[in-house]
Amino acid sequence: MKIVVTGGAGFIASHIVDAYVERGHEVHIIDDFSTGQKANLNAKATLHTIDIADAQAGQLIEQFFDGDVTEAWRGDAIAVEDR
Ligand SMILES: NC(=O)c1ccc[n+]([C@@H]2O[C@H](COP(=O)([O-])OP(=O)(O)OC[C@H]3O[C@@H](n4cnc5c(N)ncnc54)[C@H](O)[C@@H]3O)[C@@H](O)[C@H]2O)c1
Repeated sequence: MKIVVTGGAGFIASHIVDAYVERGHEVHIIDDFSTGQKANLNAKATLHTIDIADAQAGQLIEQFFDGDVTEAWRGDAIAVEDR
């Protein structure tokens, strides 16, 4: 499954990234490094260094998921899974 985790370079969401990677998912991180750190990044995840509020972030999600989204959590971290 393709999964986007926002804030994936941060403390909490980096653990969410690790858990998804461990389960064999294709994980994409969206993070602007306002407080995140490179040291938190999972090497098996794909990094997109952009602000989640930018139109580019929405376009990226649409491009990856073709609008076929089953779940989204909003807050400090957002994970979007496709079917
Ligand atoms: N070692 C530790 O115990 C430790 C370390 C760090 C933090 N903490 C605690 O964890 C909590 C904070 O952790 P957290 O994971 O919620 O915060 P965080 O700041 O670590 O993570 C938030 C992530 O979201 C990113 N981000 C913020 N705005 C963004 C935007 N507009 N677009 C894209 N990315 C954006 C940041 O760059 C960061 O990577 C606090 O309670 C803190 O005290 C504990």
